[in-house]
Amino acid sequence: MKMSVFGEKFTAKSGILELMDDLGKAVAGSEKVCMLGGGNPARIDQVQAVWQEKLEGLLKNGALGDALVSYDTPQGRQVFLEAVASLLKENFGWDIGPENVAVTNGSQPAFFILFNLFAGTDARGVKKKILFPLCPEYIGYADQGIEEGLFSTCPAAIQEIDGFSFKYRVDFSKLEITDDIGAVCVSRPTNPTGNVISDDEMAQLSVLAEKAGVPLFVDNAYGAPFPGIIFEDVNPFWNENTVISMSLSKIGLPSVRTGIIVARPEIIEAVSSCNAIINLANVNIGQVLTEELFRTSEILDISRNLVMPFYKDKSDTAQDLIRKYMPIEVDYRVHKSEGAIFLWIWFRNLSITTMELYERLKKRKVIVVPGEYFFFGLDEDWEHSRQCIRINYSQCHDSVEEGIRIIAEEAAAAVKE
Ligand SMILES: Cc1ncc(COP(=O)(O)O)c(C=O)c1O
Repeated sequence: MKMSVFGEKFTAKSGILELMDDLGKAVAGSEKVCMLGGGNPARIDQVQAVWQEKLEGLLKNGALGDALVSYDTPQGRQVFLEAVASLLKENFGWDIGPENVAVTNGSQPAFFILFNLFAGTDARGVKKKILFPLCPEYIGYADQGIEEGLFSTCPAAIQEIDGFSFKYRVDFSKLEITDDIGAVCVSRPTNPTGNVISDDEMAQLSVLAEKAGVPLFVDNAYGAPFPGIIFEDVNPFWNENTVISMSLSKIGLPSVRTGIIVARPEIIEAVSSCNAIINLANVNIGQVLTEELFRTSEILDISRNLVMPFYKDKSDTAQDLIRKYMPIEVDYRVHKSEGAIFLWIWFRNLSITTMELYERLKKRKVIVVPGEYFFFGLDEDWEHSRQCIRINYSQCHDSVEEGIRIIAEEAAAAVKE
């Protein structure tokens, strides 16, 4: 089959495709698997009950049926755009209206659109890239450029906190927004590490991006104000030069495919144009289901009172299990858990790479994600990129405990070799 450059690139085995395939196969059999690998949010019964009640109400009053039979505008449902804008304006003082909001079919396609709007070859033949100031970053970005070589990343500075934890910081001494950068992008909290870029770091990034005349993208898939899986006291950040992306996935609705972009109107218009070409319109069930929760700000209460405490408890428990099972001979640190649904373990004295550790764990029916995938776009080799794994701590307790026990055993065996 002969294909375009785009076709070749998007059908080649991308890191994310290979990994998702592998994870899928690993859990497909009948044997019990400790699945600490994927990005699935947890099922939280009280949150599930909210969706159930809303769905029943919308079915009864016919609103869901009405919404399903027509296309929305490519920007999204007007009432939903208004509800999102007024929630953010009233609660955080952002100077925005519905013209600052667009809906996409999840935040994954939102980034596909944004990256390719701002990076790639422009009309003058100049090639621009997206700069990720804090590497390791989300694997799901790595293959999203239509052109090759669109991403540039800056290795994080490592701050040792104590004998158990460390934290990545943006290394401003190395960060430079050169002429070939079209936009800057961070996930906050960061997938895979659970790092939360501080208010101060955000302010500095924002100033640098503005000075360079490029937008700052903030991927808020896990962050404030919703789903609020964030354990640090930091503020949601937005200004005219910022494009913030939010999602209904991690609050418990990954399959409704609803992403929300807040940006200045010209960017919203550009995203809406792409939506029209790629999708005609967005899936609207998530918007219909949550519109009232946005209008009443109830989505903030769900985030603060149900979602955040659930994940905080899970994260603390998983960290206790790591302390309990990891033997003294394993020299490891865990990234400070500041948000998101993952723990990031850094092994400092294994005789094998974390890709090999992943294979060994897979044989023992424990699925993690080897850290190598999250270090894309680096100019130079970094040994640290072969020393970390990501585990999803949000799944059922027994699975997490058994998984961590086996990870500790395999890590110890790898030290001893
Ligand atoms: C940092 C980050 N951004 C974006 C996404 C995509 O989420 P969705 O397309 O479901 O909104 C994910 C999913 O895991 C993520 O971890």
